[in-house]
Amino acid sequence: MAAFRVLAAPASLRRGPSPTPRLATLTRMSTALKTRILAAALSLLAALPLAQAQPAPARPFAPPPACHAVTPPTCAVAGALGRGINLGNMLEAPREGDWGVRLEPAYIDQVAGVFSTVRVPVRWSNHAAATADAKLDETFAGRVDQVVDALLAKGVYVIIDMHHYNQLSGDTLHPNESPVDAAVMEQRLVSMWRQIALRYRDRSPKLLFELLNEPHGRLNGEPWNRLAAQALAAVRASNPTRTVLIGPGEWNGVGELARLKLPPDRNLIVSIHNYDPFNFTHQGVDYLAKPFPTGTPCCDATQRQAIVTALETARQWSVANGYPLFLGEFGAYEAADLKSRETYTRIVRDEAERRGIPWAYWEFASTFGAYSPKKGGWVEPIRRALLD
Ligand code: GLC
Repeated sequence: MAAFRVLAAPASLRRGPSPTPRLATLTRMSTALKTRILAAALSLLAALPLAQAQPAPARPFAPPPACHAVTPPTCAVAGALGRGINLGNMLEAPREGDWGVRLEPAYIDQVAGVFSTVRVPVRWSNHAAATADAKLDETFAGRVDQVVDALLAKGVYVIIDMHHYNQLSGDTLHPNESPVDAAVMEQRLVSMWRQIALRYRDRSPKLLFELLNEPHGRLNGEPWNRLAAQALAAVRASNPTRTVLIGPGEWNGVGELARLKLPPDRNLIVSIHNYDPFNFTHQGVDYLAKPFPTGTPCCDATQRQAIVTALETARQWSVANGYPLFLGEFGAYEAADLKSRETYTRIVRDEAERRGIPWAYWEFASTFGAYSPKKGGWVEPIRRALLD
């Protein structure tokens, strides 16, 4: 484990200390000894790759494109979210473990050691009463408390969302997911947020709430604008100023930003997701209605343009509307070739960062994973594309 922590540390921490201060201690030694030590040090330095001897300039992470619709603290949060990761397929599986991964305590150390933000997808809806009051299951909520508190103790930003409340968007339910009466399903979202917000109201401002992952289908457009306003009001009853994330319909697609009408509130960040080019990122994925064949590489000029266009559309929307952005999901499935996944990941990361868009990779230790639980280590090409 320790070896991976060193490997995973940011490049700036992995470079050894500058040799200059050590020269001072040489003044008390004999000339012959000094010469020998100096010669050894110089040959050692010469053997180091140039990049290690001379730190590469840090890549610029631009400030948020705009903040005129939000408060200075929320603008500061947007500026600090930086690089993040999703602990996906864990707490948003119908039951933790159903999708092959559990949120292990060691994962918290792994991700908090190298990312500044951790998004924790949570399937609250399957752990709450089927009635309008949606009383949360205390054992499950306690489990989320553990994760939230362990992450906050590490000093990272933590985003908890409402993930896979599938019925709301009109989707078929997953195995082990319980249906509810359609007449109460929207009220349940509001009731769950009322409880979650109360539960965490005294936590650090580094804990952020995201009202709903990827609204789509029957929620697109006005239904989501209305429901988001109600859910936000439930949060605001106990958390008047905590930063909240809201994303547009069509799976948080940038094409839907134009239809997103945000409630009057100055502590919002707008969350977008992007998986373009989709036939590359989702090749071989079996949960799509029409699976894509494998064998598609990335990234030629057209594919790169698709990525740039999506992020640039979002940036321009931000400039025009004054809300900072968060790219809450992007990533490529494990069936794509690893070299292409690395190229894709680096392009999205670079294009987002140069536009001042903080991000969270989808995801840590499952089928899009940046980390391999089987090998007990990072998938190195993905790790370096994200962090080096
Ligand atoms: C969305 C889904 C998640 C899926 C990912 C990639 O976030 O909520 O379950 O794995 O996209 O398809």
